[in-house]
Amino acid sequence: MEEFFTMHEFNEAVTTIRRFTDLKPRVGMILGSGLNALAESIEDAVSISFADIPHFPVSTVEGHSGRLILGTLEGVPLVVMQGRAHYYEGYSMGRVGLPIRVMRLLGAELLVVTNAAGGLNMTYRTGEVMIIRDHINLIGMAGLNPLRGPNLAEFGPRFPGMNEAYDPALRRLAQEIALEAAIPAHQGVYICLAGPSFETPADVRFLRLIGADAVGMSTVPEVITARHSGMRVLGLSGISNTLLGEEGAPPPNHEEVLEAGRVLTPRLETMIRGVLRRL
Ligand code: HPA
Repeated sequence: MEEFFTMHEFNEAVTTIRRFTDLKPRVGMILGSGLNALAESIEDAVSISFADIPHFPVSTVEGHSGRLILGTLEGVPLVVMQGRAHYYEGYSMGRVGLPIRVMRLLGAELLVVTNAAGGLNMTYRTGEVMIIRDHINLIGMAGLNPLRGPNLAEFGPRFPGMNEAYDPALRRLAQEIALEAAIPAHQGVYICLAGPSFETPADVRFLRLIGADAVGMSTVPEVITARHSGMRVLGLSGISNTLLGEEGAPPPNHEEVLEAGRVLTPRLETMIRGVLRRL
């Protein structure tokens, strides 16, 4: 299914959100699988169900709440997606990217995106953080790009560049904060697959071979949409499981992804709070 949204439709979502609050967020944030608890720290929070916002995708995955929260964290006004939409749920790429454009229209200039990811790099351990240095848009190379369709020049150019998609200054800042808080944090390459099936051992070896350090089923469409409209991006992956790529290795499962979230949530919260404090 393919869908291309118009400026009018983006504005309908914005108008609805504006009926709940006039807060102008500086930062947009997406909380991934198992990381929803972070939203509970937000002060003066106004919470809106995705179902109440025109055109918003309604998430169907366990561990994803599907609420938009506007409030402040470390004194920074922000808009937070508690839960996100994934392509594998059946949404068009256009709808997966829609909330990012709505956050941009609300005023967000910076996107902090989190996810749970499988570790491909042999030095990564469950519970560690990967600051995303770059991504491989494998899902997009096969044609699934959120920017496919008429270009909306109000947001950005037809052919947006993707160099330094993950802001170097924000990555440095996140690395500094991790160091100070003794949080094990790597910088690496995230690769996005469509899912929902996990990788075969041969897939894992292939992904490692082409230069990916962690694999997941999200983030890249949202980052492309954010970069198209000029937002700076910080991406943080929580390594929820490690992938060996050996025949006979046990497959990852969604429960271990959620379980690792309990270790990762406070770590990511520390890093995000630190970054916000020093913006
Ligand atoms: N593979 C794909 N996506 C994931 C994984 C994984 O091992 N862990 C968390 N998201």
